[in-house]
Amino acid sequence: MEDLVFDLIKQEKTRQEEGLELIPSENYVSPAVLEAMGSILTNKYSEGYPNFEGLSDWDEKKIASEILPNYRYYGGQENIDRIERLAIERACRLFHADHANVQPHSGAQANMAVYNAWCQPGDTILSMSLPAGGHLTHGAKVTLDANIWNFVTYGVTENDDINYDELEKLAKECQPKIILVGYSAFTKIPNFTRVAKIRDKLSQETGQEILLMADMAHVAGLIAGDVHPNPLDYGFNVMTTTTHKTLRGPRGGLILSKGKVATPLKKPEHTLENIPILIDRSVFPGTQGGPHDHIIAAKAVTFGEDLMPDFHSYAKKIIENAAALADSLKENGFKLVGDGTENHLILIDIKNSYGIDGKFYEKALDKIGLTLNANALPSDPAGSFNPSGVRLGTPAITTRGLNISEMSQIARWMKAVALICQEAKSIDHLNDYQDQLDKLRSAVREVALRFPLPND
Ligand SMILES: Cc1ncc(COP(=O)(O)O)c(C=O)c1O
Repeated sequence: MEDLVFDLIKQEKTRQEEGLELIPSENYVSPAVLEAMGSILTNKYSEGYPNFEGLSDWDEKKIASEILPNYRYYGGQENIDRIERLAIERACRLFHADHANVQPHSGAQANMAVYNAWCQPGDTILSMSLPAGGHLTHGAKVTLDANIWNFVTYGVTENDDINYDELEKLAKECQPKIILVGYSAFTKIPNFTRVAKIRDKLSQETGQEILLMADMAHVAGLIAGDVHPNPLDYGFNVMTTTTHKTLRGPRGGLILSKGKVATPLKKPEHTLENIPILIDRSVFPGTQGGPHDHIIAAKAVTFGEDLMPDFHSYAKKIIENAAALADSLKENGFKLVGDGTENHLILIDIKNSYGIDGKFYEKALDKIGLTLNANALPSDPAGSFNPSGVRLGTPAITTRGLNISEMSQIARWMKAVALICQEAKSIDHLNDYQDQLDKLRSAVREVALRFPLPND
């Protein structure tokens, strides 16, 4: 008998095929990425690291053929080493980094490894607050991070841009060890130069080295596709990201850094120049065990895909589609945070647009096959449990090939559901509108099936 799990995977495949994925942190991987993820590399243990020499020559044939001494705790690494070396070389090339740690199991682990690499328990980290758009791992009270380090947070202005004046003022007051720019619900392009200047000035005044860190988990694919500035080009020391969002790879994390690359076996001096080595030691053995070699292979395949010219067109299209979707939403009566978007992500103030709660609207849209998530807005009076907003984005639908004309269609469907919610008043009464919802669901399904998933 086939395991029940496979039946559920089939059902999930149908759900993905017949609906439109608007969650801005999701995407569809290529068949090649999926193949690497499902490979026999999962059988291997390889705690430690490969050799880091020669990676900046960008000579992939050499990297794939060279067997070098490594820093591993187990034997049988000749293939794993070369795969991880390819992943590191490609990541560095993609993001103009001196070094890449490709082992973090997730974005959360990547962030924690950086904090742990540079800070002592109790040290201060200055980051964007959760309500302003920052991520849980930037110091939310419910996390282990917040138990270990002291997070001080800045917010956004009335125009929903980073409050740089507040950031500067807080940095002077709290003298952080790390200044972090990163977010999961923010629609502007950060002014990296301004933050780097704030850091440089403070460093000069205090004589302390301050780590500049960017968590670009959401926009890393836009950076790779050259449609968004790269913080590492503007004086940032470290950039973390997930690999499964706009980068279109396997679930996982990645840490890119500028500085000196050397053996992780020897404890280096605690300097910004040595941050790549401090990070390697912090990922393993500091915060993780054995790397997931099948995922590292899939990351290598992903970065190879992201280096192709096609990926630039994809990144450009994500932004065009997001801008078109934002315009169509506004035409259909939706009020947007920041009045639009400069990246892939849109935040709707659904409470102020149609008088309904984010969670109710999310559930109603689920019924017609449009998937997004309820999200708190900056200074949301309703809080994060029953937020006033929803968050959506275009990376996944752009991978499927949807264009600007479909964006206006999506906005019209969203308006139709908002009007139903307005009338129904609560989720319990949505059944009274089943016919209308069924019609909308068939229309969404018909469009979705015209754009097959990459693996079909
Ligand atoms: C900015 C940011 N950082 C970190 C993470 C955490 O990534 P993961 O879910 O892989 O731990 C996310 C995920 O949504 C994110 O948006």
